[in-house]
Amino acid sequence: MTVAEVICDSPIRGHGRERKPFDLPEEHVMTSSISSVVCGIGAYVPPRVVRNDDPAFSALDTSDEWIRSRTGIIERRWADPGTSTGDLAVRAAERALLNAGDRGVDLVIVTTTTPDHRTPSTAPAVAAQLGLGTVPAFDLGAACGGFLYGLATADVWIRSGAVERVLLIGADTLTTFIDPTDRSTAVIFADGAGAVVLRHGEGTEPGAVHRVRLGSDGALKDLVIVPAGGSRAPDPEVTEGRRRHSVNMQGKQLFQHAVSRMTESSRAVLQDMQWSADSVQAFIGHQANQRILSKVADLVGVSEESRFGNISRVGNTSSASIPLVMNEIDMQPGSKTLLTTFGGGAVWGSAALSWPILTPRKGN
Ligand code: ACO
Repeated sequence: MTVAEVICDSPIRGHGRERKPFDLPEEHVMTSSISSVVCGIGAYVPPRVVRNDDPAFSALDTSDEWIRSRTGIIERRWADPGTSTGDLAVRAAERALLNAGDRGVDLVIVTTTTPDHRTPSTAPAVAAQLGLGTVPAFDLGAACGGFLYGLATADVWIRSGAVERVLLIGADTLTTFIDPTDRSTAVIFADGAGAVVLRHGEGTEPGAVHRVRLGSDGALKDLVIVPAGGSRAPDPEVTEGRRRHSVNMQGKQLFQHAVSRMTESSRAVLQDMQWSADSVQAFIGHQANQRILSKVADLVGVSEESRFGNISRVGNTSSASIPLVMNEIDMQPGSKTLLTTFGGGAVWGSAALSWPILTPRKGN
C-alpha cells in the first residue's frame, strides 16, 4: 500500500537532506493496483441568479461589458441571507451520495474558506445532517485550491487503507466575505457546493485518481486576503470597517501567478503521466477568470474541445468550482481528465484522473 501518487512541488528539508515526499519511480504511477476511485458526483448552487446588470451592482462603477470581457462572467448565483456554506454542502452531498448509490462513507471532508463558524468546523454538522453517524469529519482550508487539496487528502486516506470511502465536499459562500462596495471582488465571487464520493479501488478502473501535485508560496499571502477576523487581527467588533473583514484582492498580480502556476503544475502532471496535452479529453480549471483559463489551456496545449467550464453562469465559487463543472459534463468512462487550480495562500495544484462511471445526475 502506498501514497505514491500525491506529491508536493516543494521538497521537504530535514535530517540534513532534501527529499521529495511520496515520490516513487515513474512506472509506479500507471501500475499501482490500489487507488482512490471517484464513484459519485453532485452539486448545488442557490437559486438566486444575479446578472451583471443586477441592481446589487448599480452603485458600483462597473458595467456588463467590463465584467464580461475582463472575467467571462455573465451571471452568478448568490445564497440568500441565512443560507450557510454547510447548507449548500449538505445539498451537494445528498446528490453525490445518491449518485454513488451507497450512502456509506468513513470520512467527510469539507473544503471551504467560508466555514459556518470560526469554531466548530463545518464538516461534523454536515455529516450529522446527512445522517452519516459518527464518522470522522473535518474542514480543510486552501481557498480556491481547496478541492484539489481535499482530493489529495482523500486519496491518501484511502490509499493508506485507513478508510474505504470518503465524501469530499467543496463549498463556499464567498458573498458573505465580500465588501459589496468593492467592484474588484463583488462582481467575481459567488456561492455554491460540489461533492464527490471516492472509494477504494484499482488504478486501472474508470474514476481512478492517478496523480495529484500540490504547491504553495506563502510569500504571496497578501494578494488575496481577509485581513481581520483571524488570530493575527481578531477585531471582533469590526472596528476597522467592513473592508478589513472582506476579501481584499490584488487581481493583476494574482492573474499572472495563477497563469504560471496552473500551467507549470498541469505540465508536470502530464509529464508524470506521460500524457500528451492533446490526449487530454477533459480539462477543468478553477473558474477564476475566463482569460486565465484560456491562457493556461493555450500554454499547456489542450484542445478546444476538451476545455470545460461554467464561469459565465456561476462566477468564482472557490472550493466548489471544479466539482461544479465536473457535475455538468458527461465523458466516456476512462477519459483522460486534467484538473488544475490556483488560489489564495498562494496555493496551487493539478490532478490527473480517469473519468468515472456515473449514473445520470441532477443538474444545478
Ligand atoms: N468594473 C470596472 N472596472 C474595474 C472593475 C469592475 N468590476 N474591477 C476592477 N476595475 C478596474 C480597476 O480598478 C482598474 O482601474 P484603473 O486602471 O483605473 O486602476 C482597471 O479596471 C484594470 O484593473 P486590473 O486589476 O488591471 O484588471 P484586470 O484586467 O486584471 O481584471 C480581475 C481584474 C478580473 C480581478 C483579474 O485580475 C483577475 O481575475 N485576477 C485573478 C483573480 C484570481 O485568480 N483569483 C483566484 C484566487 S481567489 C481565492 O483564492 C479566494
